[in-house]
This record gives sequence, C-alpha cells and structure tokens, in this order.
Amino acid sequence: MLMASEAPTSAASGGLDAAAKKTLLRKIPHGLFICGVAEGDTINGFTASWVTQGSFEPPLVVMAVRADSTSNGIIQRTRRFSLNVLAADQKDLAAVFFKPQNGIGGRFDAAPYSLGALGLPILEAALGAVECELVGEVVHGDHTVFVAEVKTAVLHRDGAALELGPTGWQYGG
Ligand SMILES: Cc1cc2nc3c(=O)[nH]c(=O)nc-3n(C[C@H](O)[C@H](O)[C@H](O)COP(=O)(O)O)c2cc1C
Repeated sequence: MLMASEAPTSAASGGLDAAAKKTLLRKIPHGLFICGVAEGDTINGFTASWVTQGSFEPPLVVMAVRADSTSNGIIQRTRRFSLNVLAADQKDLAAVFFKPQNGIGGRFDAAPYSLGALGLPILEAALGAVECELVGEVVHGDHTVFVAEVKTAVLHRDGAALELGPTGWQYGG
C-alpha cells in the first residue's frame, strides 16, 4: 500500500509534479541564438534558446524573454529585434552573450556586427540573421512571449547551427 506521501502526483489529484514537469520540459529541443536589440544609439544582445517558428505566411517567430532583462524593455518599447543564428562551433560566442557585461551593449566588444535594414545588430560571425517586428506578446510569468514577423533575412554562409543539447547547458524546466 502506498503512503500518501509516496503516491504519484497526477493531474487527477490536482497537483503539479514539479520534478516530472522539469524532466519533461527539459526534453524540448532548442537552438541557441543571439537576439539583438537597438534603441537610439544603444544596442544590446543576449543568448536566447526559447525560440521557434510560428507561421509560414506571414513568416513568424516566437521568442520568450526574461521579464527582468534589459532587452525585454527595449523590445517592448521599440517593437523589434534581430535573431542571429550561430554556427555549431560558436559555443564560446553564445557564452559571451549570457554573461554579465561592461555596460549595455558591451558584449558586442567581442563580436563585430553591422546594423541591418531595420537598424538591428547583425553579427558578422553568425551564419546569418533575421530582423523581426512584433505582432503580439503575452505578458504572464517570468518571461514575456513575443510573436514577431520576419521582415529581413541575411545569410552569410550556410552550415550546421548551434544547438543547446550538445553544449551541456540547461535553460528550461
Ligand atoms: C543556455 C542559455 C539559454 C538562454 N535562453 C534565454 C532565453 O531564451 N530567453 C531569455 O530571456 N534569456 C535566456 N537566457 C538568459 C539571457 O541570455 C541572460 O539573462 C542575459 O544576461 C540577458 O541579457 P540582458 O539583461 O542584457 O538583456 C539564456 C541563458 C543561457 C545560459
């Protein structure tokens, strides 16, 4: 006989099994991207893994951004962002963009970039980048879910893209 404390948590019992939730959500495969933002003369960028395509026509992408991050406020105000696709061997570059930086935009000191047609940072070393304009957002919880339409696309070179799994890093659960 199971003691109450040993009983498996199920939807039927109305509770969320936090450990099961974490294990399962961490199995969602992710890529690793550098999101770029710009506001006036200020640029910023950060590593983002919670990114997916959301529509063929119009081409939409979906990205979840930490509510308390610098970039979240910039996206909310400017209604746009870029997504840089890294090559499979650019783990070090991805690390630059999630670590603390010397002032807003400081991460770009280690990463040459140009500004795209919408004025958003495009990393020279990336496989390429898209620039996107917001069409919707869900403000709920510790991340904001942005839905945005892809307006420009620049392909520097084709190749295998960086994925989260092989890095050994975790962001999810
Ligand atoms: C592997 C990994 C994946 C990440 N994915 C996301 C993400 O999808 N969305 C997000 O908002 N932050 C993500 N982060 C955290 C941001 O890169 C980090 O909070 C960054 O410092 C935010 O920069 P900002 O405050 O300058 O905007 C991730 C971090 C790591 C290590």
